[in-house]
Amino acid sequence: MPTRDLHDPVPLPCGATLKNRIGKSSLSEQISDRENRPTSDLVRIYTRWANGGAGLMMTGNVMIDRTALEEPRNVVVDDERDLPMLKEWATAAQSTGAHCWPQLSHPGRQSLRTLTPVPVAPSAVPMTFGRGLYATPRALDEKEILDIIQKFARTARIMKDAGFSGVQLMGAHGYLISSFLSAITNKREDDWGGSPEKRSRFMVETLRAVRAVVGKAYPISIKVNSADFQRGGIEEEESLGVLKTLEDEGIDLVKISGGSYENAVMMGQDLTVRESTKAREAYFLTFAEKARAVTSVPLMLTGGFRSLPGMKAAVEAGAVGVVGLGRPLCVDPDFANKLLDGTAQPMVLPPRRVGVAEFDAILEVFWYTQPLHLIAAGKEPAIDKGNWSALAVALWNNGFDTFRRKRS
Ligand SMILES: Cc1cc2nc3c(=O)[nH]c(=O)nc-3n(C[C@H](O)[C@H](O)[C@H](O)COP(=O)(O)O)c2cc1C
Repeated sequence: MPTRDLHDPVPLPCGATLKNRIGKSSLSEQISDRENRPTSDLVRIYTRWANGGAGLMMTGNVMIDRTALEEPRNVVVDDERDLPMLKEWATAAQSTGAHCWPQLSHPGRQSLRTLTPVPVAPSAVPMTFGRGLYATPRALDEKEILDIIQKFARTARIMKDAGFSGVQLMGAHGYLISSFLSAITNKREDDWGGSPEKRSRFMVETLRAVRAVVGKAYPISIKVNSADFQRGGIEEEESLGVLKTLEDEGIDLVKISGGSYENAVMMGQDLTVRESTKAREAYFLTFAEKARAVTSVPLMLTGGFRSLPGMKAAVEAGAVGVVGLGRPLCVDPDFANKLLDGTAQPMVLPPRRVGVAEFDAILEVFWYTQPLHLIAAGKEPAIDKGNWSALAVALWNNGFDTFRRKRS
């Protein structure tokens, strides 16, 4: 068997090649301006990450629709107005030969009611999380579904025109594509729901629409859940079927994660994750091994990787094509270089909790946004904030930005 190594280039089905097996996972940057336009802070942070050594960088959420935000400071790309800044962002991110793929997102029902009074979803299934912070969504009609698919394609075309070397569809964590896939949130009885094939249709049609505008030689990836980790939601067996569909449809890379806002297993929050998986660091490694057996599509696995031996073992075993890193690159943007030159020490990242379930589900994201913003400001990601103070800062910033949006 050939030996596999973090330094290996990764060839993709479309013909492109990643320079190594380390990938930056999507991290919602929340540094758009107040009109959701990209800023020079994005150029700065991606320059830093590009110099950090990863072969692939997935951006945080880039929203395809101005009326469907996930956070008040998401970048929105729904027309050409920001092409010059997007070009700067793409050029900076790819200046060291890394690929940079924007994450094209629609949050579906996971948009706070302060941002979206009536969110849209496959069916009108309310969130079981958030104590009323999320409004009950409205079910999309077919015309609206087709319109959203075209919006994904439009944003993909603009990002390609801007020079980004690929795109990633957000199909995990309870966002719109993922909520079409899951029988908990998709109760439709038309051609968009009712069976695993029909629930996959929105994902498949979106992928086809994006492929039609970017062409065969351009990388398209998708982030999907290994499972929703909720009773009645998508289970591993069905997810393996989704992977096979994606392979048939010509996907170039599948990023594996799991969970949603209602059960944030992607952040290591769920105790049902098997002990054996915990011992091997990556939360979804067992699923990646099953996936490897049914598809030859390159797989990027994200969630829990902290040490060089853990990452090496996952890559050597063959299931993982690209090691995905999120929080480690918030606190050390040079971590990939250290992994590649063998000097990386295992990262110890204690869980971020305040003991209130609703806050704890989101605190990891809130807490790690702080070092990320320091890097974006050209500083070192020194972090001195405790959990409560990180929570207070995030709630204040989000509340203030939302208030400003409403007044403007
Ligand atoms: C600050 C922060 C922002 C995140 N934003 C996104 C996002 O925009 N899109 C996404 O798919 N995942 C997002 N995630 C999840 C990460 O991509 C990743 O799946 C998760 O952090 C687990 O990987 P890790 O253990 O290496 O951090 C975010 C995580 C953090 C900490």
